[in-house]
Amino acid sequence: MARFNLLLHASLSAASVSIIDPSDYADLAGDASDNAIKAVYDIEPTLYQTNAILGPYFYDNGTDVSIDHTTLTNSENDTSVIVVTDSTQLNLSYVDVVKYGYCSNLYQSSFYGLNAAVNVANGSTAYIDHANITTHNGAANVYSFGDNTVVHVSNTDLYSSGPVAHGLYAGGNGTVYASNVRHFSGGNRCSSFSGDTPAGYIYVDDSIAHTTGVGSALFYALGEVHATNVVGVTEQAPALFADGGQTAVFNNVDFTAHLLAGTVFFSSSSRLSGATLSFTNSRLTAAGSTSAALWFGNIIAAASLTATEVNSASGTLLVANSSQVTQEFSYFAGGEQNSAIQPAQVNLTVAESSLAGDIVAFNGSSVRLALTRGSTWRGAFVDGDDAAAAPEFDVFLDASSAWEVTGDSAVGVLASDDVELRNVRSAGFSVAYDGSLPANAWLNGETKALEGGGVARPL
Ligand SMILES: *[C@@H]1O[C@H](CO)[C@@H](O)[C@H](O)[C@H]1NC(C)=O
Ligand SMILES: *[C@@H]1O[C@H](CO)[C@@H](O)[C@H](O)[C@H]1NC(C)=O
Ligand SMILES: *[C@@H]1O[C@H](CO)[C@@H](O)[C@H](O)[C@H]1NC(C)=O
Ligand SMILES: *[C@@H]1O[C@H](CO)[C@@H](O)[C@H](O)[C@H]1NC(C)=O
Ligand SMILES: *[C@@H]1O[C@H](CO)[C@@H](O)[C@H](O)[C@H]1NC(C)=O
Ligand SMILES: *[C@@H]1O[C@H](CO)[C@@H](O)[C@H](O)[C@H]1NC(C)=O
Ligand SMILES: *[C@@H]1O[C@H](CO)[C@@H](O)[C@H](O)[C@H]1NC(C)=O
Ligand SMILES: *[C@@H]1O[C@H](CO)[C@@H](O)[C@H](O)[C@H]1NC(C)=O
Ligand SMILES: *[C@@H]1O[C@H](CO)[C@@H](O)[C@H](O)[C@H]1NC(C)=O
Repeated sequence: MARFNLLLHASLSAASVSIIDPSDYADLAGDASDNAIKAVYDIEPTLYQTNAILGPYFYDNGTDVSIDHTTLTNSENDTSVIVVTDSTQLNLSYVDVVKYGYCSNLYQSSFYGLNAAVNVANGSTAYIDHANITTHNGAANVYSFGDNTVVHVSNTDLYSSGPVAHGLYAGGNGTVYASNVRHFSGGNRCSSFSGDTPAGYIYVDDSIAHTTGVGSALFYALGEVHATNVVGVTEQAPALFADGGQTAVFNNVDFTAHLLAGTVFFSSSSRLSGATLSFTNSRLTAAGSTSAALWFGNIIAAASLTATEVNSASGTLLVANSSQVTQEFSYFAGGEQNSAIQPAQVNLTVAESSLAGDIVAFNGSSVRLALTRGSTWRGAFVDGDDAAAAPEFDVFLDASSAWEVTGDSAVGVLASDDVELRNVRSAGFSVAYDGSLPANAWLNGETKALEGGGVARPL
């Protein structure tokens, strides 16, 4: 069950390869009960550190340490295996780290790395290579906490069972650089590469990630996530969760996601702006039968797709909604759960890509689509509900790009570098534009015949 036949990027031809991750040698049956433990967050939130971060291998105050060719373990609750803090350097090479033991407070594990197998904190640096880091009962593999804390991880396997057991996790402004990492998590809310409050900075190259649980994305952006040459599969989560004005930059990635959407960008409280998402030379597959490839709720975001293939089993390319995910991470909720909820505003810029699928907006959300540099989009703009607030769609087409219309669509701005609109292939459908907008003055309020028998006409 652990192997996925993935198609490599088209430039490498349609070769089918098996991706090996740590679930291929782990005792998944033995860990099934551990993976069934649900994360419990309905406890009093503690937004300051209440527990000391302790472990049997504890290095602080500049007592730099180098450890190689050994196995380090710990099985106590709320306790790490290795702790490096207070501007100290750790070099860990050819070491197996094995962690058992539960965490009694998930806020402490999320914000400070309580119970993480390896906790690097407060201006410390770690170089970890050829390690095998295994956790059970709910523990992150590696946590990077604090300003000026930097963790480098390479040629390493990360495996976890249990809840809230992220692979590489950065909070309190910590940073992680990873290359040649293979990650697997079996529990819920166990993203492979995650940031947490107020921000974490994650850079991942040449790596593989596989998650099975609900809420376990490949990337959870709070701060920034950057990935190059990463293949990943989620069985019950999107490839990306991003909460707020975060940055997610993906190059040469191949992500397959199975719940909610391909990517989910939202704000968990008031609507925030500054969200950016980009895919270049990549492939994103939303395999869930109702999943949009790109989903935005309660956020103001700019997204770009360059030379990227997007597949959505549902036929929906993008959703913009007045909605968010909840702490259950299994459904979308709106004003009934967050009275501050607002419609999403999304700019999607497409270059060198051929896309298919509808763009759907709910409850007054808006989408501005720009098709550039030889792109095509086969789809329609769809009003997702009958809310009083109508959606707003704007479309910008350069002369080298084309919109293949698959349903009658109403837009605000209809802008085209080809003033004959030969780049709108109507297939008999109509495109209604808002003649009152200055940006549409070039259309003179006229009805224009489109290739395929349809028309562009004022609303
Ligand atoms: C990091 O520094 C903060 C503030 O001094 C302190 O409360 C915390 O315990 C430190 N963390 C670790 C892991 O030493
Ligand atoms: C930290 O290291 C310095 C220099 O070695 C030493 O003077 C100081 O006492 C140490 N502080 C603690 C808290 O161990
Ligand atoms: C850890 O590795 C770095 C880089 O290779 C090296 O500069 C440093 O001296 C090493 N530290 C220890 C304690 O061995
Ligand atoms: C560790 O946590 C588990 C799960 O909460 C609990 O059953 C167990 O008693 C704890 N062990 C200790 C030594 O406190
Ligand atoms: C980790 O351990 C497993 C099982 O022994 C092994 O197959 C794998 O190659 C190891 N990975 C690394 C990076 O040492
Ligand atoms: C993280 O950065 C913010 C903004 O610079 C700062 O206010 C905060 O104290 C930092 N947090 C930690 C744990 O270093
Ligand atoms: C979206 O595009 C419009 C028009 O160019 C611009 O005014 C707005 O700032 C953009 N929004 C974002 C989030 O990039
Ligand atoms: C849109 O938002 C509503 C309200 O939050 C929610 O019930 C619905 O599931 C969402 N639909 C999609 C496709 O996002
Ligand atoms: C629709 O958006 C408004 C804010 O514009 C919000 O108050 C309302 O709750 C939203 N409806 C749903 C179903 O989320």
